[in-house]
Amino acid sequence: MTDVTLRPWSADDLDLLRRANTPELMDQLGGAETDEEVIARHERYLRMQQEGTAFQFRIEVPGHPEGVGVIGYWRRDHHGRPVLEAGWSVEAAYRGQGIAPAAVVAMLERARDSGETLPVYAYPRVDNPASNSVCRKAGFTLVGEEDFEVRPGLVLHANVWVFELDGASRA
Ligand SMILES: CC(C)(COP(=O)(O)OP(=O)(O)OC[C@H]1O[C@@H](n2cnc3c(N)ncnc32)[C@H](O)[C@@H]1OP(=O)(O)O)[C@@H](O)C(=O)NCCC(=O)NCCS
Repeated sequence: MTDVTLRPWSADDLDLLRRANTPELMDQLGGAETDEEVIARHERYLRMQQEGTAFQFRIEVPGHPEGVGVIGYWRRDHHGRPVLEAGWSVEAAYRGQGIAPAAVVAMLERARDSGETLPVYAYPRVDNPASNSVCRKAGFTLVGEEDFEVRPGLVLHANVWVFELDGASRA
């Protein structure tokens, strides 16, 4: 598996988040953000990590301590049930090397090691073959499709993938 290291989000990671804010990367979320929005997101990541409600990481590969991508998980409700949601991105120059699937596997291990037992959900758009492939390669199970209104008037159609952290509860 590709050699990746996850570093918990730190004050140094604003530029990493700025690099991730390309129209193409952010297209999956509804469009690129202004610099003020990126700064607010960075501060939110730091604050939520402190509060224990969201955990973002810098993805490092050998020779790139500045990071080549972002991955994280956070708490949310899925049809009234508490779950974890995961999201990820890898900078364009580093794609196709298995970095995202290795980072997802490492993140799931970290979540489990931190005592998390809730199922982990991922919602890649149906028209995002690369991210759907990452879910499959990291061991997620496809359980359906759903529409998400990411901001008023913008509905994204996504696949619903789940990974059971608590293996004992698997059907
Ligand atoms: C999805 C994403 C994280 C995958 O990262 P990655 O490290 O390239 O993952 P992989 O190396 O496993 O490649 C995934 C697939 O993308 C394909 N791919 C897409 N663009 C590629 C490129 N420019 N170069 C090489 N492969 C590419 C690979 O061939 C691979 O296909 P396969 O699984 O059928 O073999 C990355 O494409 C990305 O950041 N996309 C934009 C953000 C995004 O969609 N995030 C997910 C939101 S749910």
